[in-house]
Amino acid sequence: MKAVVTGAAGFIGSTLTDRLLAEGHEVVAVDNFDDYYSGKMRFLRRHLENERFRLLEIDILDLDALRRSFEGADVVFHMAAQAGVRISVRDPLKAHHANTTGTLHVLLAARDAGVRRVINSSSSSVYGNAVRLPAREEDPTVPISPYAASKLAAEHYCRLFHSLYGLESVSLRYFTVYGPRQRPDMAIRIFTDRALDGKRPQIYGDGEQTRDFTFITDVVDAIMRCADCPDLKGAPLNICSGSTVSVNQVVHAILKTVGREDLTPEHLPPQPGDVDHTWGDNTRARELLEWEPRVGIEEGLARFIEWYRTVGRA
Ligand SMILES: NC(=O)c1ccc[n+]([C@@H]2O[C@H](COP(=O)([O-])OP(=O)(O)OC[C@H]3O[C@@H](n4cnc5c(N)ncnc54)[C@H](O)[C@@H]3O)[C@@H](O)[C@H]2O)c1
Repeated sequence: MKAVVTGAAGFIGSTLTDRLLAEGHEVVAVDNFDDYYSGKMRFLRRHLENERFRLLEIDILDLDALRRSFEGADVVFHMAAQAGVRISVRDPLKAHHANTTGTLHVLLAARDAGVRRVINSSSSSVYGNAVRLPAREEDPTVPISPYAASKLAAEHYCRLFHSLYGLESVSLRYFTVYGPRQRPDMAIRIFTDRALDGKRPQIYGDGEQTRDFTFITDVVDAIMRCADCPDLKGAPLNICSGSTVSVNQVVHAILKTVGREDLTPEHLPPQPGDVDHTWGDNTRARELLEWEPRVGIEEGLARFIEWYRTVGRA
């Protein structure tokens, strides 16, 4: 297939790009190399000589450029976003522009270019403080951060573009993705970085908040399967491990793996916009995608820490 990956220089987008190219597909990589964090080119550089790979430095807010980049594409994997809850609390407009307006642009450009399917990146954050755990796709969505609101609005546009214009799409609700190339603002990476430097982990709140951590290769596997699964008509799908651990447990496991159990955590005030618990029900994804998560938290942490020690910090 000819695929466009928006946000191809990021954590999930670059891992997906590797996989698409490894499986023989053509990839048009779209990214504006946003300055939220640096060093992203390092993951794409290896593909620059590949004739099935094309890199376009484009902002998805530039609709004309986006339209041109979608010409001839079969599937658009839409990863570009201002990710992160906390920055959205500081700068709600940026999250809105990149995530809501940006997704609307992607849908318009895809519709007009005759793209078969758009795979949209949504987030578990749309549930807010979920009414039940594990959360199911049909449960109420009550965002408690601008990031979550922007992602939920984007989901609605995907659904509408199916009902109004017949554009195939699915909105994947990822639950805290972790692993090699993880964004520098994410907790597991920050805890690991501090532990390797001999600094105490800093935990927001009492650490008893829980997360459904999902390993990057499992997420990319699910995304790949969405290219050819039955049309979901813009509906959301939880992509999650289906299990949950507390932040305290994760910190303990990291300290043990790096051999720094002597470092006692420091607790800071809880952060506005952060939900207390995430835990997803992945039954629908298992059935529709014939997919299952394979990497548990212990193995996933070990693989991340090994990458971070040898590559990530280099
Ligand atoms: N990582 C997670 O745990 C997680 C969880 C839920 C949802 N998501 C979603 O998954 C997607 C990928 O997340 P990630 O962790 O890889 O983030 P990331 O920040 O590593 O990647 C996003 C990429 O999008 C690019 N980008 C940002 N604004 C852009 C714009 N206006 N035009 C073009 N490119 C732009 C950035 O430069 C970056 O390379 C995002 O949509 C994010 O909201 C991620």
